[in-house]
Amino acid sequence: MTASTAGAAGATGAAAATVLPVGGASPYDVIVGHGVSARVVDLLGDAPTRVALVVGEPLRALAAPVLAALEERYAVTVLPVPDGESAKTVSTAAACWEALGEAGFTRSDAVVTFGGGATTDLGGFVAASWLRGVRVVHVPTTLLAMVDAAVGGKTGVNTGAGKNLVGAFHEPAGVLCDLALLASLPRAELVAGLGEVVKCGFIADPAILDLVEDAAVETILDPAGPVLRELVERAIAVKIDVVVGDLKEAGGSEATGGHPGREALNYGHTLAHAIERAEHYGIRHGEAVAIGCVYVAEVAYRVGLIDEATLTRHRSAFGRVGLPVGYAAAPFEDLLATMRVDKKSRGSRLRLIVLAQDGETLRPRVLAGPDEQVLVDAYAALAPGAPA
Ligand code: GLY
Repeated sequence: MTASTAGAAGATGAAAATVLPVGGASPYDVIVGHGVSARVVDLLGDAPTRVALVVGEPLRALAAPVLAALEERYAVTVLPVPDGESAKTVSTAAACWEALGEAGFTRSDAVVTFGGGATTDLGGFVAASWLRGVRVVHVPTTLLAMVDAAVGGKTGVNTGAGKNLVGAFHEPAGVLCDLALLASLPRAELVAGLGEVVKCGFIADPAILDLVEDAAVETILDPAGPVLRELVERAIAVKIDVVVGDLKEAGGSEATGGHPGREALNYGHTLAHAIERAEHYGIRHGEAVAIGCVYVAEVAYRVGLIDEATLTRHRSAFGRVGLPVGYAAAPFEDLLATMRVDKKSRGSRLRLIVLAQDGETLRPRVLAGPDEQVLVDAYAALAPGAPA
């Protein structure tokens, strides 16, 4: 993966847009910079006559410039959807399908999503399923969506059976990560988004960890500044490298030297999903991921895969930006029961993504069927005040 810069310098953040190409069967670009959402029409081009703008309801005012640009060129159908995870239902998707039908959407028409990860997941799924697939451009508005949900083609909705169990792989025609949109994001959401960024540092890019450890925290959290921009670009680059090698999460192979493929992106996610469920989704995903990464580091340390310094680095890197690194609010038996039905499990055999130390390098790998006492002890070590 190689990045290039293009376009005029912005008023803040100073640099031109960065173009991160995603290779594979359906190549596209992820464009990062200030003001890049104005490029949505360039990405869509002349093919569509109609465009549907799937927008999180509270973000309609923020989306006004994108809507105005689209309306200059296309017949636009605005599809406001509920904010957050509550948008990801079959009934919301069905309402979008009905609206596309009424507007006469054809295969050459397109969808644009504007919102957080739930909006890009839902809008991506609508695009994947309408006429078995129309083009979609994502304009993520949260840090979490920029570095994770909008890139890589995973789309879907939730059902009574669980989160993200219905969906499709549908790669976008482009992703516009407009850093100016982060200025209105609540600080707690920005911090939570850093959970996925720091995770990328551990699984593939230690320069992310160096930045998080060395820069002033206020600089890290400044959407107009260069540090957050570099973190976003590096995290997206990690995600691109991983998904290009394993778009459909088929897993790693001998050829990848035991690398678990796309599953590596789920580092920390097995416990994180269990905590999110135990908290009735009242904890932010990135916060749960931070706790989950510290947990798997505790497991890896206990089975001799990483040293104590690497374990300590997990607590310090996530903790430095204000993410939680301890948790004891749910009984471990309950969390373990949820972890056993995680999508990565096979039968009831738990599989965790862990890191294994190879000299100076940390390599993701699968730990299958870990000893239950190790799992229990690692959880006990997360309790605030537990001996380090
Ligand atoms: N969020 C993990 C993935 O895209 O595979």
